[in-house]
Amino acid sequence: MSAPEFPRPSTVDALPTPALLLENTRLERNIAAMARRYDTAGVALRPHVKTSKCWEVARRQLTAGAIGFTCSTPAEVDWLRERGVADLLWAHHPIGPRKVEFAVAAAARGGLTVTLDSPEGAAPLAAAAAAAGVVVPFVLEVNTGHARGGVEPELARERAAAMAAHSSLRLRGVLTHEGQLAGYVGDRPGLERAGREAGTLLSQVAGELRDAGHGIELVSVGSTPGATSAPFAGGVTEARPGTYVYFDANQVRLGSATLDDCALTVLATVISIQRPQRVIIDAGIKAMSSDTIAAAGSLGLVCDQEGRPLPEVTFADGNEEHGFLTGAGAAALRVGDLVRLVPNHACGTTNMWSGLYVVDGPAVTDRWAISARY
Ligand SMILES: Cc1ncc(COP(=O)(O)O)c(C=O)c1O
Repeated sequence: MSAPEFPRPSTVDALPTPALLLENTRLERNIAAMARRYDTAGVALRPHVKTSKCWEVARRQLTAGAIGFTCSTPAEVDWLRERGVADLLWAHHPIGPRKVEFAVAAAARGGLTVTLDSPEGAAPLAAAAAAAGVVVPFVLEVNTGHARGGVEPELARERAAAMAAHSSLRLRGVLTHEGQLAGYVGDRPGLERAGREAGTLLSQVAGELRDAGHGIELVSVGSTPGATSAPFAGGVTEARPGTYVYFDANQVRLGSATLDDCALTVLATVISIQRPQRVIIDAGIKAMSSDTIAAAGSLGLVCDQEGRPLPEVTFADGNEEHGFLTGAGAAALRVGDLVRLVPNHACGTTNMWSGLYVVDGPAVTDRWAISARY
């Protein structure tokens, strides 16, 4: 049996809850502001599509000047390809037989660059590409402080040489994700400094690889907190922010945005109040995701139906379909009230939903699909 089709209500207060809402004017503003920032700086914008997974959003980013997209998963790559997006960077490692097979087939069609960070990881891909008669373009991931994937900068030259020695692989550039900037809550000047340092370090590695004879054309940084710093270090050619398209509570805490920039919210209803100052809503971790990152003791910011923050109300915890609002301000809430929740991390929240409602103030203007989820 397929899921019930909800009628499309024309106002927010008539929506079934929980519901994912996208404030269109904020979306358009966020897209335009980021595009303008790089347009004037001569840096290409390659947004990470994992934040929205929504073609209507991606289409608007392309119209505003994005050169293509960054993807995390084969499903995202396939989905954007089917829609004719020609320039994709798969910022994840093609490790394991199925991902190797996928990368070779995608590279054979053209328009995809993959990411590698070790000769061991590169070897099966190189062998499969050689057997298929394909040359796979790749970027070398470099650690500039996040210490997730990525070679240490001082090893980049040696590792790049080992990988580029395969005639079935072509080194196009270097990539970093300056995820360490999420640790700078309350220290925006420190964050800006660290972002610029990450960009500078990546540029230096690019220079060393050029000196060693590699044709480095891509120097790619990427994050929303670093969007105002890392891409502006000399020599960086492209920026890959993702979260900026919606922003979220983490980005507010990091000083990358204000609450007024946050375009994505979850609409929920107060369903039970049996104990004082412990208000139960119909949105829990299956509506929000439980990703907290920069947040302490909260699943998101609590606002009223119009999106104004509710003072002294904390989204303290959640079960799957229940959320717990606590704090002195929760006493003012009544069963049946609507609240709007700004997620801590918009990308995790998006992945919980198959569609969102587009809103303009109280009016619901459209419903858009969310694609390529797990
Ligand atoms: C490789 C890579 N590039 C770009 C981004 C985008 O960063 P943000 O979500 O801060 O915009 C991410 C985020 O996780 C990432 O992992």
